[in-house]
Amino acid sequence: MAKNATTMDKLVSLCKRRGFVYQSSEIYGGLSSAWDYGPLGVELKKNIQNVWWKEMTQMHDNIVGLDAAILMHPRVWEASGHVENFTDPLVDCKECKTRFRADHLDPEALEAKKCPECGGELTEPRQFNLMFQTHMGAVADANTAVYLRPETAQGIFVNFKNVLQSSRVKIPFGIAQVGKAFRNEITTKNFIFRTCEFEQMEMQFFVKPGEDDKWFDYWREQRWAYYTEKLGVNPEKIRWHQHGPDELAHYAKDAYDIEFEFPFGFSELEGVHNRTDFDLSRHSEYTGKEINYLEEETKERYIPYVVETSAGLTRSVLMILSDAYEEEDLGVDGKGRPDIRTVMRFHPNLAPITVAVFPLVKKDGLAELARSIEEELRDDFATFYDQSGAIGRRYRRQDEIGTPFCITVDYDTKEDKTVTLRFRDSMEQVRIGIDELVPTIKKAIKNYKRV
Ligand code: GAP
Repeated sequence: MAKNATTMDKLVSLCKRRGFVYQSSEIYGGLSSAWDYGPLGVELKKNIQNVWWKEMTQMHDNIVGLDAAILMHPRVWEASGHVENFTDPLVDCKECKTRFRADHLDPEALEAKKCPECGGELTEPRQFNLMFQTHMGAVADANTAVYLRPETAQGIFVNFKNVLQSSRVKIPFGIAQVGKAFRNEITTKNFIFRTCEFEQMEMQFFVKPGEDDKWFDYWREQRWAYYTEKLGVNPEKIRWHQHGPDELAHYAKDAYDIEFEFPFGFSELEGVHNRTDFDLSRHSEYTGKEINYLEEETKERYIPYVVETSAGLTRSVLMILSDAYEEEDLGVDGKGRPDIRTVMRFHPNLAPITVAVFPLVKKDGLAELARSIEEELRDDFATFYDQSGAIGRRYRRQDEIGTPFCITVDYDTKEDKTVTLRFRDSMEQVRIGIDELVPTIKKAIKNYKRV
């Protein structure tokens, strides 16, 4: 059974055809680098977010959640260093006017100042701030300027004291947040990989200075296990990349990226950073209010260090889509034609639909019976009912959107209250009682291992 490699073109086409992701404002010709999540895409994204949220909050009694506003006081971004440092070096072609990130160009082309598109002359690199600016209120002047946040992390830092005082957490503890962030990216190719509007899942873990290296190693281990065990990502497709001195962000003492092998090569998916006491110190300095922590037992007062785990949610959607996509060569079909099965091997916890229910035929009361079984399952699973087309085609339609379990209701169901349960990955079919469906599917989800 040959398995073909995923290509971006195939993924983008499947995403549009089946309702995972659409180009933004497509009927107006589209807005480059902005994407909309369709009926299946929104479920997939929500499921990834839910698994992350459970892993980072419910599974730890010392991590709490937060949902801060996108618009924050503009001084936040001065204190955080984003106004000064959050820049990309850009060069422009004087001929074709194309703009490039200098650090993404071939060093020789940059040295020769030669445009890779048309051979025209390139300008000297200039620093370009990535934050989107807007104005709050009726008058658009310097006094009303605000930024769309370029990271969710600062919402956590500025609420450190609020959370400390209202939830009685003690160091070491973490604050987790999921939300939109915005960056005026210049190179926005590769579908939803790098976009101007995206979502992050971030957790800031506050620790005693001196214990930061230990917690940094702890969180690196935890995050690796999350991808391989909780999301079921192929471990051969992820790897670590440690930031060299010239790559480190202005706030970081040490940083590792988890990279995933996307169809276009290995690229960053998540960053684990040791942010030291940079952010809390800067907010103390800029507000004139000491943001520190008093250790009850020792009466020691200090500014905590922060270990950050920062994953892209929308980028995780692309990872899960590319990791799941497979084309299986099943030989030839009944009519002698090549039989290729497109299957999305999502972990059942992530699949937009968990169980699809079909009547073998619409007549003789089978449609009503199948409908009632589907309705019974709604309490436990995300379900879908489909009565149109041949059964084989209905299975294949579900394979293509990654539905892990399909149930077929036939004439025997009326007699003996059994149905056919079909498993997406193996295509195995078993006959089981209607009353066994929920426990059987739950067990299969719990024990799921990708083939
Ligand atoms: N608070 C730290 C921070 O924002 P980052 O490495 O700049 O660190 C963290 O971003 C993650 O956010 C990245 O690993 C990536 O998954 C996601 N991300 C960053 N920029 C993005 C963009 N333009 N489009 C989609 N995802 C992005």
